[in-house]
Order: sequence, then structure tokens, then C-alpha cells
Amino acid sequence: MKISVVGTGYVGLVSGTCFAETGVDVTCVDVDKKKIDDLNNGIIPIYEPGLDVVLERNVEKGRLKFTTDISESLNNDCEVVFIAVGTPPDEDGSADLQHVINVARDIGKNMNHYLVAVTKSTVPVGTAEKVRKAIQEELDKRGSDLKFDVASNPEFLKEGAAVADFLRPDRIVIGMDSERVEEVMKRLYKPFLLNGHPIVFMDIASAEMTKYAANAMLATKISFMNDVANLCEIVGADINLVRKGIGSDSRIGNKFIYPGTGYGGSCFPKDVKALIKTGKENNYDLRVLMAVEDVNEDQKSILFDKFNKYYDGNLKGKTVALWGLLA
Ligand SMILES: NC(=O)c1ccc[n+]([C@@H]2O[C@H](COP(=O)([O-])OP(=O)(O)OC[C@H]3O[C@@H](n4cnc5c(N)ncnc54)[C@H](O)[C@@H]3O)[C@@H](O)[C@H]2O)c1
Repeated sequence: MKISVVGTGYVGLVSGTCFAETGVDVTCVDVDKKKIDDLNNGIIPIYEPGLDVVLERNVEKGRLKFTTDISESLNNDCEVVFIAVGTPPDEDGSADLQHVINVARDIGKNMNHYLVAVTKSTVPVGTAEKVRKAIQEELDKRGSDLKFDVASNPEFLKEGAAVADFLRPDRIVIGMDSERVEEVMKRLYKPFLLNGHPIVFMDIASAEMTKYAANAMLATKISFMNDVANLCEIVGADINLVRKGIGSDSRIGNKFIYPGTGYGGSCFPKDVKALIKTGKENNYDLRVLMAVEDVNEDQKSILFDKFNKYYDGNLKGKTVALWGLLA
């Protein structure tokens, strides 16, 4: 089986490498020439445990290639093309889809046989339809009657454990509207399902929403615990004991209930904002999520407030060590 992964960032590089590990021929594509040159020279742009070993092994076996030329990657027997480019927040908080649509146009311009175009980027409901339209428009311009399908396959890997998460996923979610897609995706993902975790097929809109709902739920747990932690301090309770007390309840679970300085990183803030924006565009206020964001904004200054209070506002000349900053 041959596939193409467009966007060789965090998600694209890890996905492409892990698919190659199962014996699939993968071509990773990116517009960033330096990134592709580096990868072709064995320089990996990110650090993820185990990625170097798996990547080198598959490059050596000839199953993993890197190029800036999408047409090369869509040639011959390519069955699936993944879109794994960034979806940064627009000024109004919505997901900026320009890179996704650019790739869809490139697919329409360069495909030369039937294939399945799968969105792996985190995108709002309705994006797969925009991808379908963009590909079709480009085929129409070429006067081509080639057929294709679109699908949604959101990615749930965590930075820091990306390879392990991808190789042993809790579940795989596929949004699709054709039996042909179901057959292709089952074949592609079969090796990942050996741990007994499910592949969940659903309609495309539900798959697109599933990714946002997952990140929004995790962000909600974090803000909830921070809110309760703040009250604990006021009333003289210990949040860490409360955490242990509730985390052993299987309905609640012991993950994502650690209080701290709020959620951050490359996904939660933008995905929470984008989901709130989707609600607003549809005249629906996601009130819980708006409160989650509100708590998170305040939480960011809590550590500084404590520090300031501890030194009675005399911070001049103090040396501060910060641990865990993003590079
Ligand atoms: N990083 C994560 O932990 C994570 C987890 C799950 C889902 N996601 C989602 O996956 C998507 C990708 O995230 P990422 O962290 O891999 O982004 P990233 O910024 O690391 O990588 C995106 C890559 O796409 C490339 N690109 C942009 N336009 C292109 C084009 N037209 N053709 C080819 N390549 C192009 C960029 O050069 C870049 O290398 C986002 O929607 C993100 O929300 C990220």
C-alpha cells in the first residue's frame, strides 16, 4: 500500500513514520524546503522518544521518503493522501484553514487516479466538504472526470509520547461516507488495532467534532480542578488530597486533574477557542467552555501573584528559574 502525508510537522512526521513501520510506502510532503532537505540528510526537526530509531529504520528500508513535490507523492499507486498541515487560530479565534485548502487544491491539480483525501489536521465541522469542493474545482478546471472520496481522521497523539500514542492508539476515529473509504482505512489501520482498541466509523461531521470535544473535555477537567484548587486555598482544604479522593472514582479518573498554572501548548488554547467560535457562528453559546477559558486566563497569573505576595512585592533583584518552557 502507498500513501502520501502532506505536512511534515509534528503530526505528519510521526504519522508518516509510524505508517511506514507497518510496511506501508509513505511519502511525506512539505512546502518547507529546509525541513525536507534536513530530513533527507537524517536531521529530524523535532524530538520525540523513539522517533529517530523508527524513522531511520524505515528510510533505510526505502519505505519512507521526503519531498517538496506533491505530484511525485500522488503518482502511481498512492491510495490515501493525508492532510496534516497546521490550523492556527485566526484573529477571531476560528481555525485558519488556508493551509488545508491549499493542500486540497494541490491534490486536485496533481492527482492522476482515484484516491481518498483524509483530513488529519484538527478542523471544524464542514471542513471535509470544503476540501471536497476545492479538489473538485481543480479537477473541473483540468476538465478531468477523476473520482475521489474525502474522509476525516482526527489525530489524538500527545507531544512527548507521540510515537507510542500513534502506534498504540486508544481508538481510531474515521469519518466517512463511502464503503470504499471504510475498506481502505480498515486495511491501512489493521496493524494498529492489534491491541484490541477500536476503530470507530462515523459520519464526517461527527468525526470532525470528536477531536474538538476530546480536547475541550480535557481542558474542562484542568480548569475545573484549578477552580476547586483556588477555593481549597481559601477554605483550608488540600487540593492534592481532594484530587486523590476523587481520582480513584472510575467515573472521574485520575488523569488531567492536577491543578497548575492552566493549560497551554499548541492545541488546547486554539481548539477551545475554535469550538467556542463554531458555537457562536451557529448562534449557540458553549457556556461551559467559555467559563473554562475564563478560568484558564486567570490561572496564568496565579503563580506570579503568589510569588509577588511571598516577597511583599519586593521582586527587584530576584533570580527566577523557569522549568518546562516550550522552546
Ligand atoms: N502537535 C500536536 O500535538 C497535535 C496533536 C493532534 C492534532 N494536531 C493537529 O494537527 C495539525 C498539524 O499540527 P502540527 O503540530 O503537526 O503542525 P506543524 O506546524 O508542526 O506542521 C505543519 C506543517 O505543514 C506544513 N505545510 C503548511 N502548508 C503546507 C502545504 N500547502 N503543503 C505542504 N506542507 C504544508 C508546514 O511547513 C509544517 O511543516 C493541526 O491541525 C493540529 O491542531 C496537532
